[in-house]
Amino acid sequence: MEYETPLFFHVMGYAADAEGDVIDMVSGNPDWEPPESLREGLREYADFDADRFQYPPSEGIRPLREEIAARRGVGVSQVVLTNGAGEANYLAMARALERGAGSEVILTDPVYSYYPGKTTMLGGRAHYVSAGADGQLDPSVVRAAASEDTAAIVVNTPNNPTGAVYPEATVHELVEIAETNDAILVSDEVYDHYDLSGTFTSALSVDSAHRIVTNAFSKSLAITGFRVGYAIFPPHLVDDAKSRHMLVNVAGSRPAQYAVLRALQETDPAYHEANRDLLRERVDLFTGALESAGADYVEPDGAFYVLARFDGYPGTLETVEQLIDQAGVAGMPGSAFGESASSWLRFALVTPRVEEAADRLAEYVA
Ligand SMILES: Cc1ncc(COP(=O)(O)O)c(C=O)c1O
Repeated sequence: MEYETPLFFHVMGYAADAEGDVIDMVSGNPDWEPPESLREGLREYADFDADRFQYPPSEGIRPLREEIAARRGVGVSQVVLTNGAGEANYLAMARALERGAGSEVILTDPVYSYYPGKTTMLGGRAHYVSAGADGQLDPSVVRAAASEDTAAIVVNTPNNPTGAVYPEATVHELVEIAETNDAILVSDEVYDHYDLSGTFTSALSVDSAHRIVTNAFSKSLAITGFRVGYAIFPPHLVDDAKSRHMLVNVAGSRPAQYAVLRALQETDPAYHEANRDLLRERVDLFTGALESAGADYVEPDGAFYVLARFDGYPGTLETVEQLIDQAGVAGMPGSAFGESASSWLRFALVTPRVEEAADRLAEYVA
């Protein structure tokens, strides 16, 4: 079997190896600080007795699972701590496909590039439904695509790469479509703290045996390297997911889980508000400069990416490499996110130099 290897690490490497000054807007690695309590938790861990350097419970340390369960209003037994949202999505999709309730996975186009590879890896077949130019998903399109062969419907809100935030009615209807078709809605909400519109609704807002919510602290606490995420399963699906997690990983990282727990307990909501403010400012600066240059872009309602389009520069890897080498700005090819994004380029707002980046791009393509 051939896996579709996502392009992110390739482009990051290309940008890092390039000569000259390159503004790196490739991947969703926040450049802002984690909460101070997270650093304190990590420091504190270094001096713990060595028995706390040994295996944690496979499904994750109990107090962090309890903290998450309390915040999300679910039972602690439903929470599995994972190696980032990446593993959470993998466990969720695996469970959906293993139930003997179909082999098709409904994905959106544009799509977060890791879902297609996971679908294939797990023996599923991707069935794409198109999201509009603004990334919004029309539930009636999903309903028309769903059938008894649908095992999972995988969505992401706030969305990477479009920045769309699905309204409450869409989220509720997606859960209902999953129920009607004996499918599982997998709702990846890893950017929930970066809802810039105030309209985000979690799929947890509907109680259902047909939805799994995935999330992580990678983005919300600016720690993509810590690898702490979680999935919330309906009670009847959780045990097999825990077994798969154990068979693949044995367990997660205990010091990382501990530091996340400290951060959750001690971080003020103002931390997240400040990050959203920073992003709003960057969105304005970046899109403002694109606007002045007459370039097309998609204004994001959430997450931290902007899709931009320049005449004569298709959203291919070749264009991206050319822009890295000649314009000094590194983004991702839209084609990595599906057919419908193939004329776009995606830029992650993870640098203070977003305005300069937009100016460089505008000048180069002029
Ligand atoms: C939509 C989406 N899901 C999952 C992930 C992966 O998250 P993690 O680093 O927690 O595995 C990302 C990372 O960019 C993402 O954009």
